[in-house]
Amino acid sequence: MKYKYLTEDIIQKIEECRGRFPLKEQCIIPALHHILDKHRDIVPEAVIELSDYLKVPVSHIEGIVTFYDMFRHRKNAKNHIRICRNLPCHLANFHSLLEKIKEKTGADVGRSSSDGLWYIELVECIGSCGIAPAFLVNDDLYDGSKIKTEEDLEKILSKYR
Ligand code: FES
Repeated sequence: MKYKYLTEDIIQKIEECRGRFPLKEQCIIPALHHILDKHRDIVPEAVIELSDYLKVPVSHIEGIVTFYDMFRHRKNAKNHIRICRNLPCHLANFHSLLEKIKEKTGADVGRSSSDGLWYIELVECIGSCGIAPAFLVNDDLYDGSKIKTEEDLEKILSKYR
């Protein structure tokens, strides 16, 4: 097998796309969706493989990946944790909360955990400054100041595993 990320099924879908559209560039976005669906991330090697397969410059594909939010944030993990970093949350020590969450989930800001369960994003004010540092797990809002121990955090995260 020549490619690690462009698996047979992805190549088949790309070929189906190419049968429908006259330009190979029209299949870049569908191909990136297939890669994201299958691998939960678009790593640089996948971009290189797609470039090689479609004979489109890497810079062109990377430009698409970085332009579109859905690809740039690479948030195809099962759960999306958003932590507010604006001033009230900053003053309420969102950093300490972030470190706890990183440690507990194995994810990092902008990177999914290797088990595909978690993705962490720092966001602007989520309108909940009264409970700073505020964070969301998917659509559920939490008061970070109530997280004093590892068990407090585990109680929340265990609902989403
Ligand atoms: S500043 Fe963090 S929720 Fe408003």
